[in-house]
Amino acid sequence: MIDPALETLFLPLVNEAIEIPAEGKTLFLRARLGSALRDIPSERLVCQQTFAPDASALTRAGYELVEDTQDEFPLVLVLPPRQRQEARALLAEAVARTKDGGIVIASVANTEGAKTCEADLAQLAGCSGKLSKNKCRVFWTQVNKAEVNADLLESWLALDAPREIEGGRYMSRPGVFSWDHIDPASQLLAESLPENLYGKGADLGAGLGYLADEVVTRCPKIVGVDLYEAEKRSLDLAKQNLAEQGKKKPLDFIWADITAGLKRNYDFVVMNPPFHTGKADRNDLGQAFIRAASQALRPGGVLWMVANRHLPYEATLDKFFESFEIIRDEKGYKVIQATKARK
Ligand SMILES: C[S@@+](CC[C@H](N)C(=O)[O-])C[C@H]1O[C@@H](n2cnc3c(N)ncnc32)[C@H](O)[C@@H]1O
Repeated sequence: MIDPALETLFLPLVNEAIEIPAEGKTLFLRARLGSALRDIPSERLVCQQTFAPDASALTRAGYELVEDTQDEFPLVLVLPPRQRQEARALLAEAVARTKDGGIVIASVANTEGAKTCEADLAQLAGCSGKLSKNKCRVFWTQVNKAEVNADLLESWLALDAPREIEGGRYMSRPGVFSWDHIDPASQLLAESLPENLYGKGADLGAGLGYLADEVVTRCPKIVGVDLYEAEKRSLDLAKQNLAEQGKKKPLDFIWADITAGLKRNYDFVVMNPPFHTGKADRNDLGQAFIRAASQALRPGGVLWMVANRHLPYEATLDKFFESFEIIRDEKGYKVIQATKARK
């Protein structure tokens, strides 16, 4: 699949507006795999990526992945996310990780805030050049450390730090799903869960842990929950948020791509599956979650899920489950219970 922001990121290197430094490695923040990477030898690239599908694609292709680094690099590439505070924090991180005189290159799709992000980098560390292609903008700056706006750098670095939300109930941070409030669809699902849910369960796409938290509180007969989540920034928060609940029931926190299947079998699954990346609806993601849930459920096991009511999941539920029922249809959401065949 073509990745326009990634292709555009490498444009100034391909057309030699910028030369790849002769010495040292290049840091790639929010790295994604694609044919554009061929312009830098894999042993000269250090990648950072917290989203499991992208991280495992890079690892499989032989790229070095680091969780964190305090080193400085002559060249830093970055694919900023859409959420503004998270993007600003990442730009600040990119500038902080660049050697004096080194270069930061960023690329953003026009529909994901390219213009704003370009202005943000310019405000922080200046602008040396820009190009537009593939409905994306690539922009870069040569980092002169003495000229970087040091106050802005410090405040932007702190912009996506974890903080309390919901009156202290959870720790959260910008950029994770529904980061500053409990999602109303998830809340509707939690309120619909039957008290007699039992056995071992899984929460697919667990976010910062809200649904698993509610399951442990509302359903005394359960024996434990595995929380699956692709975004490590969310999963780390879930671990922190559910530390107390983990003393009542065993909880396991699994950083994984659900579309690749689950690790164990379960008596029940709860989920509010992702349904878009950026602006576009991705029905296939929710459908893949339904398939993964069905494959992992034991005979007679139950799926409890919530979705925006316009999303077309019924045919997939029909295909992978013996029966399903819309339990609630309100506020634009549907809560669905599906049962796996006993044989
Ligand atoms: C709609 S949110 C629900 C979050 C949480 N359960 C809640 O109710 O607040 C969907 C979650 O799925 C995660 N996700 C997206 N794609 C995934 C994948 N392929 N594998 C695992 N999790 C994924 C997202 O990071 C996000 O946290």
